[in-house]
Amino acid sequence: MTAEGKTGARHAQLVREIHAHDYRYYVLDDPAVTDRQYDALVEELKSMEEKEPSLRTQDSPSNRVSGTLRGDLRSVKHVERMMSLDNTYSEAELSEFLRRVKDGLRAGTEVTFCVEPKLDGASIEVLYRNGRLTEGSTRGDGEYGEEISENLRTIRSLPLTIAYDGPLTLRGEVVIYRRDLEKINEARVAAGDPPFANPRNAAAGSLRMMDPRVVAARPLRALMYGVVEGKKFAPCHSATLERLAELGLPTHRRQVICKTAEEIFGAIGDVEKNRAGYPYEIDGVVVKVDSFSDQDILGTTAKFPRWAIAFKYGAEQANTRLRNIVVQVGRTGALTPVALLDPVPLAGTTVSRASLHNSDIIEGLDVRIGDIVTVQKAGEIIPQVIGVDKDARTGDEKPFAMPTACPVCGTAVERREGEVALRCPNRRCPAIVKGSIIHYSRRYAMDIDQLGESLVEQLVAKNVVSDVADLYDLTVEKLVELERMGKKSAENVVAGVLASKERTLGRLLTGVGIEHVGQVAAVQLAQAAGSLAGLLAWEVDKVHELVDGIAGFGPKMAESVTAFLTDDVQRKLLERLHARDVSRPEPVQSSAESGPLSGMSFCVTGVLTQKREDVHAAIRAAGGTVHDAVKKGTTYLVAGEKVGKSKLDLAKKHGTKVIDEEQLKRLLQGETLEA
Ligand code: IVH
Repeated sequence: MTAEGKTGARHAQLVREIHAHDYRYYVLDDPAVTDRQYDALVEELKSMEEKEPSLRTQDSPSNRVSGTLRGDLRSVKHVERMMSLDNTYSEAELSEFLRRVKDGLRAGTEVTFCVEPKLDGASIEVLYRNGRLTEGSTRGDGEYGEEISENLRTIRSLPLTIAYDGPLTLRGEVVIYRRDLEKINEARVAAGDPPFANPRNAAAGSLRMMDPRVVAARPLRALMYGVVEGKKFAPCHSATLERLAELGLPTHRRQVICKTAEEIFGAIGDVEKNRAGYPYEIDGVVVKVDSFSDQDILGTTAKFPRWAIAFKYGAEQANTRLRNIVVQVGRTGALTPVALLDPVPLAGTTVSRASLHNSDIIEGLDVRIGDIVTVQKAGEIIPQVIGVDKDARTGDEKPFAMPTACPVCGTAVERREGEVALRCPNRRCPAIVKGSIIHYSRRYAMDIDQLGESLVEQLVAKNVVSDVADLYDLTVEKLVELERMGKKSAENVVAGVLASKERTLGRLLTGVGIEHVGQVAAVQLAQAAGSLAGLLAWEVDKVHELVDGIAGFGPKMAESVTAFLTDDVQRKLLERLHARDVSRPEPVQSSAESGPLSGMSFCVTGVLTQKREDVHAAIRAAGGTVHDAVKKGTTYLVAGEKVGKSKLDLAKKHGTKVIDEEQLKRLLQGETLEA
């Protein structure tokens, strides 16, 4: 063999070996070599390719990471719509689903079900053409996703080539193992970045990053659960999962075939029992009709297939010791007791703090310092202490009483009539000032992301800023005096603050925080006033009347706006903001009377594919009205993912129809929804 031929053969062998090790490590979770041995193989491959660049083909494992930085993510149409799954938390509803499936099929059909974990990550579509990974995308709105091929190539459990010639369109989920998330979060905290709340956020965020080199450093894993080509690929769903695994593709390998309801409930119970031992998070199980022809007969609704349902598990709980209780003061002055816990893993993160809400809860639970407590995390919400193990007490536990003075400024606390919360009445309390500034700079308000928590803390502690209007007097010279603040960062802060002057009045009113006035109401108020100058020109004794006339404003809101505008301190604040030229007039949509949504009212909730403000704007532009909450007369509740049960209950109570983003889109296009 020539020297060239020898190099080529060794290179091909290395490619094969590295792929095989990736497969064993990332797919089978069963590495055959140590990390060092693996690294040595990759090094050898790289140095060969450096000497002989023609060896560096598309499929070489060294070619997983491209150096191309992207400006944005291209939108791509999915080969077939990526539907979502109908879901339930109740066994009765699951039985109902099984009955509907039976009724939908020819009498006497013996139905086979496949029960499998519902992976809690980010959905993806991956295309293999002629055996090569050619393209991948996020779910997006189900019809169009964002093209993230380069990012997906960095996921080492996804083979770059497979032994399958036909076109293959895979569906699956990108997840992060719990143990990997812990490591990422440790590193983030050490670097001063906020930790990810859960593996799903970390996975979804990572996939949409613009720099594949950064994505490559994130320990993402793909798990595929379906194929669009259906029957051409395998005779039924469970056979699809098996064939995917045979091709070396990563699957969850936890499917269970069931024939009876009893078997299904048994399988669900088993998964729930074992889930803590899974390396990744799941949020339930998916029950699917296994046969593709039965799936075809059952068909789909506008949103979901009729042949599958997700059965979700309730909130996760854990027990741990409560070491201490500290009291935090928020931007409204409310005192919140927070439990400091022995760190405990819960729903994908390590929990060391949990809310105790208020003194009534502490008393109701009879929580004492030193107790073993049960903490619960439901959805995205901050963990809460929900129970105490009184049998585990030793007698050394110490009762806790709320302070009578603000723990930050020492002012005597007050309790407003009809409220449980204690409040610090001192508006100059550093905790209140800090909280107000952070709220003001949030994305949904004035969006000044250069104002991080530690910077605000310093600004307040050093008396540089004592309200949000002071932000506009900040200069580079003043800022560079602070700790850890270079000239460049100082310039960025000043530029960020300056840019916030261009936000609309509605965002400013959200930012200053008027009690009972949410984002939607703030925009309505801003539209009624036109501009900040207009608002300040309102005659004080007419405010109540003016505001009460805004659709959806109840007396409580009108009262709160009146109180805000007649309060000396708040008024001065608005005047000072006006003097600094902060905010622009709120645009009022002129077509509002006659659009396709005129006469309809909406409440938008849950995690959506678009920014919530954009959805609100689209509804208003089409003549619809938007409210922060579901109330009597609300026509539609637009529900994204992870919708809170309370919103759904309210919708049920008021007869409000629950629709998804897809259906909203159709309404916006002037279509009517079938009953
Ligand atoms: S099957 C037609 N199987 O759940 C529906 N989906 O609401 C096909 N998901 O974002 C979906 N684990 O990415 C299916 N084992 C599993 C799943 C799963 C997680 C996600 C999916 C989608 C959501 C559906």
